[in-house]
Amino acid sequence: MTVKTALRQGYDLLAEAGLAEPRLTAEVLLLHALHRERIYLYSHPEHELSTLEWLHYGRYLHERLKGRPTQHITRVQEFYGRPFRVSPATLIPRPETEHLVEQALQTAGGARTLLDIGTGTGALAITLALELRARAVATDLSFDALQVARHNAAALAAPVDFVQCDLASALTGPFDLVVSNPPYIPAAEMATLQPEVRDYEPHLALLGGEQGTEIYHRIVPQAERLLTPGGWLIFEIGYQGEAGVRGAFAHGPWQEVSLTCDLAGLPRVLRGRYTP
Ligand SMILES: C[S@@+](CC[C@H](N)C(=O)[O-])C[C@H]1O[C@@H](n2cnc3c(N)ncnc32)[C@H](O)[C@@H]1O
Repeated sequence: MTVKTALRQGYDLLAEAGLAEPRLTAEVLLLHALHRERIYLYSHPEHELSTLEWLHYGRYLHERLKGRPTQHITRVQEFYGRPFRVSPATLIPRPETEHLVEQALQTAGGARTLLDIGTGTGALAITLALELRARAVATDLSFDALQVARHNAAALAAPVDFVQCDLASALTGPFDLVVSNPPYIPAAEMATLQPEVRDYEPHLALLGGEQGTEIYHRIVPQAERLLTPGGWLIFEIGYQGEAGVRGAFAHGPWQEVSLTCDLAGLPRVLRGRYTP
């Protein structure tokens, strides 16, 4: 069995099962079995798979066909050009969340200290700490997620401290920038999620209460306690979350509250400036 034939067979199986991106998935799973970089698939199409490589590739395809996310099989997802370990305890970082990074770099490029609330893999805290050359603190309720985030920070040499607590309740600050991509799926929508999300990703990372915006109303007052005057609070929001999250900013000392949409044109990032 050559690389070329293995790719074709993997593609056929995944495409027949109706899975998204069958070619890319077959490539990623085969590379994982071969322990190679992507270029190898095209520079060595006649490479004969060893028995072990073939067995591993077959097992990965089988797991994917049963619904397991590719990133849970390879245990890695790229975010803003860097590899992040993922686990069943962490949300798989999404490309849409890179929009928050871009907005934070544009809006708060001078931040020296930042806080990421609900850090998961650490994707936001680590990326922003490295891009801004800032010191970061990141929180999560999940001990297992924080273990993964700590691993990622060490692997990427990012200056991030991790704290297990409810939102930012254990912290004193001050911070120049607070970011958060909290759970924001309304309870009624959980059943409608793709099975690969609903059945494999942690509900602690997904479920945002009845409306999906309640957690933002808890974060905003905490940010008021922690931000330096003039500092920014920047949220990722769900596609229906804008009005509810704007409401969270409405009664406090917030100015320059504004929304940006992602590449798909969906409301994605809402920010406000703490102006006491
Ligand atoms: C949507 S995920 C975002 C993860 C990561 N920031 C990202 O963008 O990929 C939300 C994260 O918030 C954490 N979380 C949920 N409720 C929390 C709470 N009350 N306090 C702290 N973290 C919480 C979850 O464990 C999860 O890691």
